[in-house]
Amino acid sequence: MPGLPLIEVRPYRAKDLDGVIDLFQRAVRETASADYNEAQIEAWAQADRDEWELARVSRPTWVGLVDGELAGFADLAKNGLIDMMFVDPQHQRKSVATSLLARIEAEAEELGLTTLHTYSSVTGRPFFEYCGFTMLLARAVIVREQRFVQFVMEKVLES
Ligand SMILES: CC(C)(COP(=O)(O)OP(=O)(O)OC[C@H]1O[C@@H](n2cnc3c(N)ncnc32)[C@H](O)[C@@H]1OP(=O)(O)O)[C@@H](O)C(=O)NCCC(=O)NCCS
Repeated sequence: MPGLPLIEVRPYRAKDLDGVIDLFQRAVRETASADYNEAQIEAWAQADRDEWELARVSRPTWVGLVDGELAGFADLAKNGLIDMMFVDPQHQRKSVATSLLARIEAEAEELGLTTLHTYSSVTGRPFFEYCGFTMLLARAVIVREQRFVQFVMEKVLES
């Protein structure tokens, strides 16, 4: 019987940049494409390398590794917003996102945050609900001329 995968979570490093962009684009094109049409997926999957480089160092970001291989990443803004939560299509449903969220929650506690929030995709919603987030509202946003429904979700952290 195969053993459980070893998931390690560590801080993002500058040399992870191309790997996380590639992972993001594959997560959108291969996983999220179950819930969005082709035009939405192409609009969502655009990534400007320079903007990403700045964004990743502007806030704490963590990568998840499965057996040493990049398998996911997530971030946390000072106000408790999780903007990024993406897992490699090859590593779905192995608790990579759950492990990343546990790291985020530990950081949130250190920062004295009482709530976390996210603007979830349709694809991400069951994961965030599983982790104790509740939906506050659904709203429409326009990204590169495509309309997306976003779920504003919140988790109150135990004190
Ligand atoms: C959402 C996402 C980050 C989840 O990553 P993951 O590592 O597969 O999630 P986990 O394995 O930690 O899932 C934990 C639990 O969440 C729930 N869950 C996760 N994905 C789910 C899905 N597609 N459908 C239903 N429930 C799901 C399950 O209860 C799961 O537990 P189980 O596998 O024992 O049933 C990943 O699917 C992804 O990258 N999606 C595409 C990008 C995206 O939409 N990201 C969110 C942007 S806000």
